[in-house]
Amino acid sequence: MSLVPPYIETLQPYKPGRPIAEIQRELGLKRVVKLASNENPLGPSPLALKGLHDSLAELHRYPTGGYDLRSLLAARFNVKTENVIAGAGSEGIMSDIIRTFLCDEDEVLTTEGAFIGFQVLSKSRGVAYRTVPYRNWHYDLEGIARSINEHTKIIYLANPNNPTGTIFTKDEFDAFYARVPERVLIILDEAYFEYARHNPIYPDSMQYRYDNVITLRTFSKIYGLAGIRIGYGFAHGDLIKNLLKVKLPFEPSTPAQAAGIAALQDADFLRRSLEMNARGLEYQMRAFSEMELEVVPSEANFTMVVRPGEADAESLSQELLKEGVIIRPLRAFGLPNCLRITVGTDDENEILVKALRRVLSRTYA
Ligand SMILES: Cc1ncc(COP(=O)(O)O)c(C=O)c1O
Repeated sequence: MSLVPPYIETLQPYKPGRPIAEIQRELGLKRVVKLASNENPLGPSPLALKGLHDSLAELHRYPTGGYDLRSLLAARFNVKTENVIAGAGSEGIMSDIIRTFLCDEDEVLTTEGAFIGFQVLSKSRGVAYRTVPYRNWHYDLEGIARSINEHTKIIYLANPNNPTGTIFTKDEFDAFYARVPERVLIILDEAYFEYARHNPIYPDSMQYRYDNVITLRTFSKIYGLAGIRIGYGFAHGDLIKNLLKVKLPFEPSTPAQAAGIAALQDADFLRRSLEMNARGLEYQMRAFSEMELEVVPSEANFTMVVRPGEADAESLSQELLKEGVIIRPLRAFGLPNCLRITVGTDDENEILVKALRRVLSRTYA
């Protein structure tokens, strides 16, 4: 008899983007550009680094469970501290949600090719995981609403979505929400919120504080703090109260919380990051179109390129690796013919485009 339940035995673990040092060693390359994990290529927020450093003298104390950050976010977003949770990245909170709300008979419903972190977490709980195909690389919210059954407990929506970079609009979300029973919990994953918030049709979920909606946000993306693990969420007080029963009491760590608090003040870094991303996104989109690549218009800090098949996608990614550019093949997401490419610095984007031109002319000449 196996000690491991079948749904764990068959689970494919989350594989992070490959580290730069590993590729440098493996291929003997001097410079490697990593455009695989939607990180901020400008590095961490400088104010966050200072906040983190200042917190180190308190490392002999146990963390406060995120209380200070929760209070600050409550004041900033005009909600109560009881409506806010802070955790070890938004994935840490996602894991709490899965453990808090799902019973064995419950089902999870989302799009095909959803963010891999959510897929792995849900499947590790052993419940039914149901998906609805994309419609032109956008969430088919109508299809998802139609697929709700009496077992549906959690609906996961990322907006902007990873890996497609697309958004659903206010109108689409309103029409969808009207069809979701109150007993169903909607996770609105807004990891890339800051990149889309100025788009007038983008639904900022803080305007939709429904009792069955949990908003998740993170410091991992625009604030450049993926390595320290700090994220947060907003929801009805009853949901947060129960999540806090399940959350590991000492997450987030003291330096993580301090970095998050300081990052919130770093308006200059936010502005520079947004400007660089907008420029890089436009540059990548234009270059890809010139190369006649099929690319999905993005509202985030990455683009998704669609290839004719899995073998082609895999070889394009391998050939780029040989050129010192790491991108993300999306087989594990369930989109084997797609590739995801993060927007880098101006310099990195240029290296990518040149490498891509070389690879395409070599392969398809
Ligand atoms: C849609 C989405 N949600 C959540 C995360 C994870 O964020 P965190 O680092 O806060 O766990 C990512 C990271 O890639 C993401 O793309």
